[in-house]
Amino acid sequence: MSAPKKHLSIGILTAGGDCPGLNAAIRGVAKAAIGTYGMDVVGILDGFTGLVQNRVIHLSDRELTGLLTLGGTMLGTSRDKPHRMAMPDGSTRDMTGAAVETYRRLNLDCLVCIGGDGTAKNALNLAQAGVHIVMLPKTIDNDVAETDITFGHDSARAIATEAIDRLHTTASSHSRIMVVNIMGNNAGWLALGASLAGGADVCLIPEIPYRMESVFDALRRRIAKGRRFSLVSLAEGSHPVPTKAGKRGSAAGKGKKGAKESKSAGKKGPSRATSSRKLAQQIEDELDIPTRVTTLGYVQRGGIPTPTDRLLATQMGTAATRLIVAGRFGVMVALQGGRTVPVALEEVAFKKKTVPLDHPLIEAARLIGLCLGD
Ligand code: F6P
Repeated sequence: MSAPKKHLSIGILTAGGDCPGLNAAIRGVAKAAIGTYGMDVVGILDGFTGLVQNRVIHLSDRELTGLLTLGGTMLGTSRDKPHRMAMPDGSTRDMTGAAVETYRRLNLDCLVCIGGDGTAKNALNLAQAGVHIVMLPKTIDNDVAETDITFGHDSARAIATEAIDRLHTTASSHSRIMVVNIMGNNAGWLALGASLAGGADVCLIPEIPYRMESVFDALRRRIAKGRRFSLVSLAEGSHPVPTKAGKRGSAAGKGKKGAKESKSAGKKGPSRATSSRKLAQQIEDELDIPTRVTTLGYVQRGGIPTPTDRLLATQMGTAATRLIVAGRFGVMVALQGGRTVPVALEEVAFKKKTVPLDHPLIEAARLIGLCLGD
């Protein structure tokens, strides 16, 4: 029989699309794990791929220096799933066994998985195969269930808000309508938050199918008040009210242009999303006001985290270490009412948190006259 271990050993990986705050979270976990609890910590490279392929680095105080403010992830990331790994010949294979094998070979007591809804599914799959998991929720989209907020969202919202601010001045100088395309996958949190904070005039989100007439009316009302410019924000995943035939309306990106735009917004992004170019064209045709399109794209995911995201990542990262010491596994660290709480992965893995139609931000939008397209 082998002697009992003196220290706990943990692994950390980041998976899914990157976002600001990932490095702050890695630092939060590792600093508390090493400094307070005397754990051994390894970083697993490139998400679940590194776990399957046994690619790891040792993390000590030295590697954690300067991480708090750094965008991206020092560990690299990927969208690979251990239970459906892409093979070089184009086929997929279940590599869960290889992932579990790495965990055992490294003699880990817990794997900290930092990611979004896709990561929750991978993490649950590994938990069911016997791996001790604690997950931390990150994504600019803020669409992970059971947590009030994910880290990365605040930074992306600040970037999108600044973009709307900047578009305002050029729109007003040229008397143009600006259509700004904002990420978020199938949730409107990012577009709604940035539109309210930036004072957009129209905000279209996936949760509220829109009617072009409603958009035109809102813009006409501005013109009638002598406003010669307007800001229209379009969340990735937004779509018009279906027509009687059950098809999505004419602004949906079904043509070549729409498909291309949808790809550049992100492979993972919704394929039937409205094309902002088509939307802009419809607005210009109807109102005869020059209309321009800006797609914010990956700019929203890059760069330094805001102080709010640094704090959240640190709070969640350190909370993860307390759960590990307490032996609470198979959970995600959620923020609920300002406090971190463990939530079972089963509660998170197959849900999405979209914007409820009675959310206070929706109410605020309606009260200030921000057109939501309905
Ligand atoms: O999940 C975050 C996100 O940025 C979404 O807003 C967007 O749909 C997607 O990722 C882009 O994914 P990828 O990095 O695979 O292009």
